[in-house]
Amino acid sequence: MSTLVLGATGGIGSAVARGWKDDRLWLSGRDDAKLNALAAELGATPLRADLGYESHIKTLFAGLETPLDTVVYAAGSAYPEALNAATPDAVRRVWNANYFGALWVLKYGLPTLAAGGRMYFIGARPELVTVRGFSQYAASKAALSSLLQVARVEARGKTLTLVLPPAVETALWEQVGRTPKGAMSAETVAGALIADRAGEGQAELKVD
Ligand SMILES: NC(=O)c1ccc[n+]([C@@H]2O[C@H](COP(=O)([O-])OP(=O)(O)OC[C@H]3O[C@@H](n4cnc5c(N)ncnc54)[C@H](OP(=O)(O)O)[C@@H]3O)[C@@H](O)[C@H]2O)c1
Repeated sequence: MSTLVLGATGGIGSAVARGWKDDRLWLSGRDDAKLNALAAELGATPLRADLGYESHIKTLFAGLETPLDTVVYAAGSAYPEALNAATPDAVRRVWNANYFGALWVLKYGLPTLAAGGRMYFIGARPELVTVRGFSQYAASKAALSSLLQVARVEARGKTLTLVLPPAVETALWEQVGRTPKGAMSAETVAGALIADRAGEGQAELKVD
């Protein structure tokens, strides 16, 4: 079995990578030091890529052995801003991580996926992100959800799962200022995802 985790240096991504018991693990991130350390710890292969660039993702998929059995897309950015103060830099960071990276991963990753293979994308619950400052985060996660609905029609025989956790205690909240009380651990999300991989597969995995 062969698995690729993107956003592997993040809180949820690294918890998934650490929890994955697989015989071939590929890890992608853009922070070389963190990525190489994690890959060395897990005996995995590091693949550096900035997910905002289609060319990086094309090169990434060309550089690994296929078919892949599982792809986990755990990259994301929040960078909240009120609409009247929106900046191109923060808007681009959010859409690159939450939407465009996922789009290019579907484009280049789906053809490399084994029959019966799975892809997981970490989304966000609309009711939890419809809050001040989160317009781009909420909109990009809604776009991801719609993207997956169409991708499922085009990718018959492959399961594309949108993972929907509540607030999770990770470095993502440093972009916001503080972690919400009661945030769950990244390991809980990773455990739910890994358990789901052993089951039938579903379009949506709500983690509570
Ligand atoms: N934390 C929560 O409460 C929560 C709740 C629901 C859903 N989610 C979603 O879960 C996913 C994982 O988030 P997390 O909480 O684990 O956050 P995190 O610890 O901040 O991890 C996010 C990862 O995405 C990477 N990333 C961002 N932009 C990238 C780009 N252009 N190219 C390559 N990598 C990029 C970051 O890399 P760098 O370190 O290099 O920036 C980081 O490794 C995200 O999609 C997030 O929206 C999180």
